[in-house]
Amino acid sequence: MPIEKFTQSLNTDKRLFKADIWNSKAHNLMLLKCGIIERKTAKQIFKYLNEAEKKFNDDKFELDETLEDVHMNIEKYVLEKGGEACGVMHTARSRNDQVVTDTRILTRELANKTIGNLLNLCKAILKKAEEDNKNNIIFPGYTHMQQAMPTLSSHWLLAYFDAFTRDIKRIEDCYKRINLCPLGSAAFAGTSFPIDRKYTAKLLGFDDIIENSLDAVASRDFVAEILSDLAILMSNLSRLSEEIVIFSTSEFGLIEISEKYTTGSSIMPQKRNPDIAELVRGKTGKMYGNLINILTILKALPYSYNRDMQEDKTPLFDSFDEVNACIEITTEMLQNIKLKKKKMNKEIIATDLANLLTTKKIPFRKAYNIVKESIYGNLDLKKYLKKEEISILTPEKCIALRKSRGSANPKEVERMIKDRKQKIKEIEKRQAKRIKKIENGKKLTEEKVLNILSS
Ligand code: ARG
Repeated sequence: MPIEKFTQSLNTDKRLFKADIWNSKAHNLMLLKCGIIERKTAKQIFKYLNEAEKKFNDDKFELDETLEDVHMNIEKYVLEKGGEACGVMHTARSRNDQVVTDTRILTRELANKTIGNLLNLCKAILKKAEEDNKNNIIFPGYTHMQQAMPTLSSHWLLAYFDAFTRDIKRIEDCYKRINLCPLGSAAFAGTSFPIDRKYTAKLLGFDDIIENSLDAVASRDFVAEILSDLAILMSNLSRLSEEIVIFSTSEFGLIEISEKYTTGSSIMPQKRNPDIAELVRGKTGKMYGNLINILTILKALPYSYNRDMQEDKTPLFDSFDEVNACIEITTEMLQNIKLKKKKMNKEIIATDLANLLTTKKIPFRKAYNIVKESIYGNLDLKKYLKKEEISILTPEKCIALRKSRGSANPKEVERMIKDRKQKIKEIEKRQAKRIKKIENGKKLTEEKVLNILSS
């Protein structure tokens, strides 16, 4: 195994190409503003950074593995084209602060993409919940996978809505710790050049700098944190997937998945398998693995930079890619499932019968025992309740009788849907703000670069 091949990271970090170009532009604008480099050299640097970017966009930039990584490839391009003088572009910067800055730039972008996808999923769930609530789709709710109490499909859907909005909030919270700029920390100890770290951070659309230069280059807890958020998200998604798998069996018959989202068997002509949900369920293991991967890399890793850190990007990008694919496909599948009313075991109203008995001044535990005895023994409930009182207690009635906040009752579900719609709007507003901040940084950088190039 050639050493260069073993140590290179190009296959993974070529995804940082655009972030790295932006990084170099912002860094050199700062060096220029602080009087560290000359305008005419900056002009050359920007000219060839733009050229490299264009080539990359056109799929014409030739990445050289022997140069180790994307950072060295870009620097070499600018130096080869612009001459030795352009070598100032790396003043007061190390690849240690450079790579983690790029990684944070891409991570925040992927975090916003994930939030966007989760928003779409939540909206699809809400829409379905609203329709189902109007159609009063009643099916059994389960504990221990045994029919427990009648419930509403809309209420079931809203439970997942709430889980996924918590996933959004977790990512949003992590975002505050992602969106901090390490650039200007150099190798780890800072630099003797009179740089302006806040200015670079502003150009790169960061909320602030990550102050301690050693912490800035050495910490990867933001990677562990976002991967743990994604792992938790997948645990929620895998539970939904599992329910879709079992509820769509003929044994349960609660869900019908549109044919487009099922696959056939190579031998059994009748099969319509829920492969999408199964794959989402199955991929969850890898996302947990990616979290354990980064945690193990970080365990007992001495400060500051060690080459082990190069291995952070593989699990990071992999989890984001897989999670986003899983959310997108689940959203589509969910828009194409039908939740079905289901005839339930007649005992499913047992708890409501006990509740009814308490209106006859019977304490709940006694009422519970009476109903249990009527099911499993030979006690006749008519000793306590009139025939009509019993017969009126249909699953619909049980559901209608529920009054507690958050319960599976159509009115309560309606109130929750309204409230959740508002929550979606608030998340959208925060998302727009985050994206705007990045765009503003990008715009500012490009304007300043253009200004220098055209002067
Ligand atoms: N390819 C490296 C990484 O991804 C870049 C940083 C290299 N730094 C160093 N001191 N060798 O981590």
